[in-house]
Amino acid sequence: MSITVRVPAKVNVQLAVGPARPDGFHDLANVFLAVSLHDEVTATPADELRITCSGPDAGQVPLDRTNLAARAAELLAARHGIEPRVHLHIAKDIPVAGGMAGGSADGAGALLACDALWGTGASRAELLDICAELGSDVPFSLVGGAALGTGRGERLTELPVGGTFHWVFAVADGGLSTPAVYREFDRITPDAPAPAASPALLDALRTGDATALAGALANDLQPAALSLRPSLAATLEAGTRAGALAGLVSGSGPTTAFLVKDPESAESVAAALIASGTCRTARTAVSPAPGATVLTA
Ligand code: C5P
Repeated sequence: MSITVRVPAKVNVQLAVGPARPDGFHDLANVFLAVSLHDEVTATPADELRITCSGPDAGQVPLDRTNLAARAAELLAARHGIEPRVHLHIAKDIPVAGGMAGGSADGAGALLACDALWGTGASRAELLDICAELGSDVPFSLVGGAALGTGRGERLTELPVGGTFHWVFAVADGGLSTPAVYREFDRITPDAPAPAASPALLDALRTGDATALAGALANDLQPAALSLRPSLAATLEAGTRAGALAGLVSGSGPTTAFLVKDPESAESVAAALIASGTCRTARTAVSPAPGATVLTA
């Protein structure tokens, strides 16, 4: 028997970052929106924990115990006093570049798949707790939709979304280290104020108003990501020149996200971004998308 779980990527429509805390993390007001690019994680009984991965970017995915899918299986098994005897296969469609929570998606997907396969019957609260242990963005991958993340981003309040938003993602070559981006943020933002969600942005989400959302998109990590990767400015410029309503660095980057008005505009902005030579590829998607979902049992 196998269990397959489908799990979405995300974009941060607002990422407000406060000063570094004593534990090294930063308090955030992080508005997550799940988008329709998905990985699928399939859990099958096996003699020991094993990870495989397929898809165009599979070669860039670690298959050892550093993969969040492996850590999710180990954490769930340890809590329930069993051995993580499972083969986890990741069918990867989320770009492996950073900023779209692809690794977090695989952690949340593996957790839900193992829970179903092993019949551990973990409560939603326990699953969210394990997700938070895996990483700041992992709880949102489980929940999906739209949510405000506070604390280090792991404490979620679900948000209403009143329409469909259309996106183009420009996938950069290579990654950007998340800790390095936060360190650069600390260096260039010595007096960061306490983070707060923007009422205008929450309103735009609630009413499904893409133009208003475009005006409210904000990422406090963007100057730090641009400082470490100045070439992202040319990608942002290419997307907005091609007709996007607005563009921003997604999370800690280097993926850049462009909000567009409709599916036709998404296709033309994606084509222009690819033609500009300022990114590796471009993908279109819609939001919101559901969180981690069991497909087969
Ligand atoms: O929680 P996660 O493993 O995704 O965090 C990766 C790194 O990003 C952390 O080690 C830390 O350097 C940085 N981070 C942070 N503040 C947050 C979330 C992440 O400083 N709220």
